[in-house]
Order: sequence, then structure tokens, then C-alpha cells
Amino acid sequence: MPRAPRSSPLASGLSDAVFSQLAAKARGRDAIALHVGDTYLEPPELARVEALSGAHLYAYAPVQGEPSLLGAARDFVHRRHGVELDPATVQVVSGATAGLSVVSEALLDPGDELLLPAPYWPLIRGIVQKRGAVPVEIPVFDRLGEAGFDLEAELEARVTEKTAAIYVNSPNNPTGAVYAERELAAIARVAARHELWIWCDEVYEDLWLDEPPPKTWSRPDFIERALVVHSLSKAYGLAGARVGFVHGPLSAMAAVRSVQTFSTYCAPRILQLGAARALAEGDAWLESARALYASAAREAADALGVEPPRGGGFLFVDVRERRRAGESTFALLERCLDAGVLLTPGSSSGRDYEGWVRLCYTVVPPEELRRALTALRVVLRG
Ligand SMILES: Cc1ncc(COP(=O)(O)O)c(C=O)c1O
Repeated sequence: MPRAPRSSPLASGLSDAVFSQLAAKARGRDAIALHVGDTYLEPPELARVEALSGAHLYAYAPVQGEPSLLGAARDFVHRRHGVELDPATVQVVSGATAGLSVVSEALLDPGDELLLPAPYWPLIRGIVQKRGAVPVEIPVFDRLGEAGFDLEAELEARVTEKTAAIYVNSPNNPTGAVYAERELAAIARVAARHELWIWCDEVYEDLWLDEPPPKTWSRPDFIERALVVHSLSKAYGLAGARVGFVHGPLSAMAAVRSVQTFSTYCAPRILQLGAARALAEGDAWLESARALYASAAREAADALGVEPPRGGGFLFVDVRERRRAGESTFALLERCLDAGVLLTPGSSSGRDYEGWVRLCYTVVPPEELRRALTALRVVLRG
């Protein structure tokens, strides 16, 4: 049978149809795009690429990463978490997306299951699916405050002999919720009971409003089984640089390194150098960004009549009322677009979230966000 016109079913199953339809409608229009987790801030000056010439361009970096970035990553982890990482257990990756992809290939077999608390960052589902593994969605983040909600029982009920890992993302994209200590302890108990990996997606570890969220991977009941993915995209405004790093137990990291070699070999060398400086010296930039984002988060929450998030970069807004009144979420998103604002459908974050929409409050400057919020308030709440 000819192969040429056919792509892999794993790849063709990945499309995000609802969002692509909306994005197609937005094309060519002058909408304020609040659908993606970017920033309007210039990255730290010191992270700008200094020397676009010489060996940094024509020679590969070591597979594990540039020594200056590996050093900065270990110092960062020590500063934030008081943990001294074994140098052999750190791997530079091309952003958390590639990092999780590499982790997924290194630790999952086709058919394995990942417990995926929802709503979740839209790309994690596809990352697991392209491995031929199965994301098992569990409604969690909108239920954390609910009386009688028992996270441990919810996770436990979904464990099968195929379960390999639990995904932990706190602060969470899209809700901005964070896990409390008792919830993290519940996750640890389930993981220990069934010998599971815990994947800690730490992309928003440094973006919080009132206080830093409870530590995840460095807890004694996580650390032995945690694969930890950090990114420079959000806290240091370097999403375009595509740099992050992964660490975890030595045995898992050996597999991660092997997969990394056969994926991109190394992350772009010159960008690793800028990232190293941002990690080492960019804390003042981060503090100022955190304050600006926190104020944007409060303003957005207030305008839309929802609770402010605890961290991250998004608000997840319940619009089920509109659906009950007979309007589909897609029609509502089209009306948002007509009013000049592009949002993300909640269904990208899980099949139970059709009646929600996501908005990023870090992506445009305050005046533009204010204009978007004024328009949205009329459409969503009017
Ligand atoms: C929870 C979460 N994980 C991972 C990523 C991807 O980060 P990176 O830009 O480092 O690939 C994002 C980006 O929005 C995210 O929200």
C-alpha cells in the first residue's frame, strides 16, 4: 500500500479544530489577541544575543547544554529550592514543550496512561498522544474548593495497570489555581502507592500574585519520582528563545538525554547563552514583571467579576450561563472577536470545559488590556 499521501494517525489526531476555526476568522482583523501566553515586555537587556558570529553559530552545543546555562540552572534551583542538583541530572531543552515531549518519549510506552488533572495547558494532551500514550482527564482545578472534593480518591479511581505518571502544573494554566500542601501530599500518596512518575511542569513557578505557591517537586515525598521541567519563556520573557531545562532522578535523566540527542541534539547555542545570563542575573526583571502581571491579573478579574488567580498568566472564565441561554461557546467567541478580542475556547483545556473561555492577561500592555476588558465585559457579562 502506498504511504506517500498518508500521514501517521497519531499526527492527524492532534488538531485543535475549534481554535483553528476561530483563528482563521481572526486572520486579517485587528483583534487584541489574548489567546496565547506571551508577554508585551522586552526581555532582560542582559539576555539579548551579543555575538551573532563565530563558534556560537557554526558549532553545536554539548547535547546536555552550554556549561554556563547548566551552571546557572543549578544555581537557580539552589537559590529557589535549596536543592543541590547532581550535574549529571540536568538537561537543557528547547523550551518546556520540547522538554515534556522528550520526557514523554523517555518515560512512556505507547498505550501507557498519564493522569491529567483538568483543565490543563492545551499542548500537554497532544504531547502525550503523539507518543501513542493516553491522557486520562480528571476534572480538578475548578473543583479544588468544592466541599467533599477528594483529589486522592479522584486520582485513585483512574489508576489502571497502564498508568505511568501524574502531571502536576501548579500554578495551573488555565485557571491560575495552585495546589495546597494537602493536595500535593495526596498526589504523592497515589504516586507512591502505584510507583508512578510525577511530571512537574514548573513553567509558572515564579509568576504568582500574593505569595509563592507551595513547593512541588522538592517535597521529600515527590523528589525521588519527579521529572521537573522549567522554562525561561514566562518568568524571563524569553518565549521566542525556546529554552528550558529538565532535571530528575539519574536513571530517568539518562533516558531523557538519549531521546534529546535524537530529537534536536541540542537547543540553539546562542540562545542558551542569553538564557544563562537571564537566569543568573534577571531576578530584578522578574520582580518587576511579576508586579505588572499581578496588577493586570487583578484588573482583569475585577472587570470580569471572577476571583483573581493565585498565579500563572491566565483567567479561565465560566460562560456556561450563555450556553444555558442557548448560545454556543463558539458563537460567543465569535462575538468576542467581533468586539475586537481573540480568546481561547475552554475545550482546548479538556473535554469538560466546553463552557469556559481562557484569557491571557500578560500578553498586551495595560492600556490595551483595559480596552479588551471593556469590550469583553459587554459581551461576556452584558
Ligand atoms: C503549563 C505550561 N507548560 C509548558 C508551556 C510551554 O512552555 P515553553 O514556552 O517553555 O515551551 C506552557 C506555555 O504556555 C505552559 O503554559
